Amino acid sequence: MKPKNQTRMRILSLEMINILKMSTCANSPPLTTPTTHRVIVVGSGLAGLSAATQLTKLNVPVILLDRAERPGGNSIKASSGINGAPTRFQPVRDDDGAFYADTVKSAGDIFAGAQGNERKLRERLIRTVTKDSSDAVYWLADEVGVDLSKVAQLGGHSRARTHRSAKGKPPGAAIVGALLDALKENPFFELRTKSRVTKVLKDAKEVVGVEYVAEEQTHVLRGPVVFASGGFAGDVRGMVSRYRPDLAAYPSTNEAREGSQSLLEEVGAKTTDMEQIQVHPTGFVDEKDSSATVKFLAAEALRGEGGILLLGNGRRFVNELERRDHVTDAITRAATTLEGDLRQWEATLLLDEGAAAALDSHMQFYLWKGLIKKTTFGELGQAVIDSAQEYADIVAGKKADELGRTAFGNWTLTDVQPETVAYVGKVTPVLHFTMGGVIFDETSQVLDGQGDAIPGLWAAGEVTGGLHGQNRLGGSSLLECAVFGRIAGNAAAAFYQRHYLSS
Ligand code: FAD
Ligand code: SIN
Repeated sequence: MKPKNQTRMRILSLEMINILKMSTCANSPPLTTPTTHRVIVVGSGLAGLSAATQLTKLNVPVILLDRAERPGGNSIKASSGINGAPTRFQPVRDDDGAFYADTVKSAGDIFAGAQGNERKLRERLIRTVTKDSSDAVYWLADEVGVDLSKVAQLGGHSRARTHRSAKGKPPGAAIVGALLDALKENPFFELRTKSRVTKVLKDAKEVVGVEYVAEEQTHVLRGPVVFASGGFAGDVRGMVSRYRPDLAAYPSTNEAREGSQSLLEEVGAKTTDMEQIQVHPTGFVDEKDSSATVKFLAAEALRGEGGILLLGNGRRFVNELERRDHVTDAITRAATTLEGDLRQWEATLLLDEGAAAALDSHMQFYLWKGLIKKTTFGELGQAVIDSAQEYADIVAGKKADELGRTAFGNWTLTDVQPETVAYVGKVTPVLHFTMGGVIFDETSQVLDGQGDAIPGLWAAGEVTGGLHGQNRLGGSSLLECAVFGRIAGNAAAAFYQRHYLSS
């Protein structure tokens, strides 16, 4: 039975799809037997949309399911950008393996301690995501048509390689919007929202479909499955409490929704690094609602473009472009805690006019929301004036930063006066991303406990584990979604053509 009241972007009869397929796909085997199967993609974030785009490009019919009312997942919220190296947009050359080295360093002890096959797998995942990164950026910029010409340096990166639009929409909304718009026009694509996958179906040999619930009815779909259901950093009472009870009282940038990894475990998938939950150093504390458990993120690009962090005494205390885990530790060690049930600390994010102008559309949103306010240094006091002047001297090359910062984005202020404009917001560490997830390989196949691929099942994006180890670099989640989503789409298309089309 067909669910009612869902977003149904394009509904064609399967016979129609097959006719189209025969007439439009010169390189694919002709379809002579009508089939009721399609490739099923679970999750409409960037990983799912990348897979669906690849599948439809190969004229394979796709049904994309999402439990949410609107598509886009966390991907649509992405605020700083997507990594790629080398690209023509980067201000400095970045083709010497530094991106691979930075990613390995960021993966920390988890990567360093891995042995044997596990070590090789982790190396292959990092190799694939970094090597395919320029292709991913060029795919989005040149084929999908997203402006990614502005590049910032985020924490833990040795070069500027995080791409976003120079003007206009933040990166998540721009990328998701462009992919969805193109898919809506494609006759091989159908999106069903408010459709929650509750079971992955497997026969003796392979994954053969899913069960999902929509309008309180259970439905069955048959076909190979690409799982792109995202992470669990918002599932504070469920999976976060299970794997990291010490983090359960932190606010999160993710909506409070359950993780879906267990659906894959039920068909034999193994998980890894589940306790590795990224705490992003800067979620906004909205003074109108400081106890909110879901917070707006203060994009890392705010620091990348020159912003600094201050304690209550007005002093800088950390290299703001260190890795996220390091900056978070510095805040929780040095900053004042906020009272209340949530675990929150109070730090100040400060930008000059140069840094703010580089992120104009973000700033307009934060100012409108009251998360950042425009003020003067005189209002902020002498200690802040002194810290900002010292930082301005470091940026101007008059002295080295004792905290080790060497990249300053678009900070332009040289002479701090009481009447000089400043932008400030209150920030606290927030749960943001889950590095752990189902074990997969560089071909996006989901692996079982023996390390063998589960036929008919692929995964991409935040639902997977093993790539980032102990800490994900900013900008590398959108990247992994694009890289492994496209790999999964290509692989599922080839599998579909071999297994589901009879000649
Ligand atoms: P998602 O985009 O989260 O999509 C998963 C989808 O699966 C969801 O729509 C969900 O409803 C659906 N789903 C889950 N379970 C089921 C089920 N059982 N049945 C049906 N549907 C299901 N990363 C960067 O690289 N750069 C950035 O600038 C950046 N900024 C960020 C800003 C914010 C505020 C946040 C929260 C994250 C940011 N990230 C960024 C991280 C990044 O956006 C996400 O990690 C990434 O987009 C995850 O993509 P995904 O496709 O794996 O999952
Ligand atoms: C951010 O904008 O700070 C988030 C970037 C990311 O999570 O990669």
